[in-house]
Amino acid sequence: KILVIDFGGQYNQLITRRVREKNVYAEVVPYKKALDAIKKEKPIGLIFTGGPNSVYDAKSPDIDPEILDMGLPILGICYGMQLIAKNMGGTVTKSDKREFGKTKTMVDPASKLFDGLDVEQTTWMSHVDYVKELPEGFRTVASTDSCPVAAMENREKNIYAIQFHGEVNHTENGHEIIDNFLKKVCHAKGDWNMHDFANEAKRAIQEKVGDKKVLLALSGGVDSSVCAKLLVDAIGENLICIFVDHGLMRKNEGDEVEEAFKDTGMHFIRVDAKDRFLKRLKGVTDPEQKRKIIGEEFIRVFEDEGRKIGAVDFLAQGTIYPDVIESGAGDAAVIKSHHNVGGLPAVVDFKDLIEPLRDLFKDEVRQLGEAIGLDPKLVWRQPFPGPGLAIRVMGEITEEKLDILRDADYIFRDEIAKAGMDHDINQYFAVLTNNRSVGVMGDFRTYDYTLALRAVTTSDFMTADWARIPYEVLDKVSVRIVNEVEHINRIVYDITSKPPATIEWE
Ligand code: XMP
Repeated sequence: KILVIDFGGQYNQLITRRVREKNVYAEVVPYKKALDAIKKEKPIGLIFTGGPNSVYDAKSPDIDPEILDMGLPILGICYGMQLIAKNMGGTVTKSDKREFGKTKTMVDPASKLFDGLDVEQTTWMSHVDYVKELPEGFRTVASTDSCPVAAMENREKNIYAIQFHGEVNHTENGHEIIDNFLKKVCHAKGDWNMHDFANEAKRAIQEKVGDKKVLLALSGGVDSSVCAKLLVDAIGENLICIFVDHGLMRKNEGDEVEEAFKDTGMHFIRVDAKDRFLKRLKGVTDPEQKRKIIGEEFIRVFEDEGRKIGAVDFLAQGTIYPDVIESGAGDAAVIKSHHNVGGLPAVVDFKDLIEPLRDLFKDEVRQLGEAIGLDPKLVWRQPFPGPGLAIRVMGEITEEKLDILRDADYIFRDEIAKAGMDHDINQYFAVLTNNRSVGVMGDFRTYDYTLALRAVTTSDFMTADWARIPYEVLDKVSVRIVNEVEHINRIVYDITSKPPATIEWE
């Protein structure tokens, strides 16, 4: 295991992920807990992350000097490098100009870090401070035009450091540099995988929970489903899952969730709350209002169920790493008030939280889901908004409109899967617009709904590009929907990206 010591940089989790991609387990530890964690976890190496501070500022995060004397291999990145320099007798100074972006860097391939690489490299720089004088026992192994020490090493002590960000893709050989550190400096075996993660996570859950009770709100999305599977494998009947079926899911989805979990040994409760939700949504057309009502009602239903169960010891949540960052991002303007289960803890009486997926990125959660044998239908489910189809039926929501949308959406998804595009398009769905138009079917005039198809590719859902679905696939979808679904006589394909549009229509 590698411990990534966190000094507040923005790429810390990315570093961890890069290490895991090389089949070596890694975990982030806040710098204040570093010494304890090292003693307890016995890692084979450490990585010091970047950070926004300046090492000479008294308030800046610092490293316990004992850590540098433990004989462990260390890789310092950016601020992490400057900390090593400062603590081992070198000097760090402020430069008069910031070095930022892709930078030509000359490296020494004789260093284990750059083994196998060309002398000239492109790296990603983002710093003002730099190491001016090396600490004793170190030598310079990379430099740029404006940064004399872009990397340094002390072979004897196994301490290496880079000023640039090897973890970001803009550093052309960042993966190799990290791999060199892991394999050639730390002698990592590189045989870790998601099965090991699952076993370790289960062990940790068992240790924490003992024979106490854990409550999980299951939405049927990827994260909560993987979380449920992991928990049930670990603690079986001590897991209580409440699945609130608000009647706003896609076709068959509620049954699929029930099917996947009802006989697994957990205490599975499906709450059929469709009528409650529809009643409260009656006559409501404003998107934000819809979200608000659904969020509130969700909590009420959960509260009612929770009351029947009584106090539990733990509340589990399928929080994943991007959620952790997102909830920390305070000032961003509210474009849409995203509803998910974040509001739950206040209504449940519990002592502690369990969040086994907190360190993982979405694709890692999927790998984990596959490793623990979760139904591929659930593993590969595309993201689905908490308010469900309520924000994909424009205007007032009725059962009839929901049924039309469900059938149309199902056909769209079916054809995308048949075309083999379901893993490449990140989100795709149908939207039932409030627009009716004139059509002709056989000898008759029709006056029916316009359906919009939406499909996007994106890596983070913050920006997105509309998916270039081949005309033939779109044609098949269109023909099938107008033939198989009543009350739709016109289909349009949404060709706007985000921004300026958002992914959902409401
Ligand atoms: P937008 O429409 O803002 O969507 O571009 C970005 C991503 O967020 C999802 N989304 C939601 N998820 N509650 C959720 O849990 C919501 O209220 C909500 N609104 C949008 C959307 O499906 C897309 O993946």
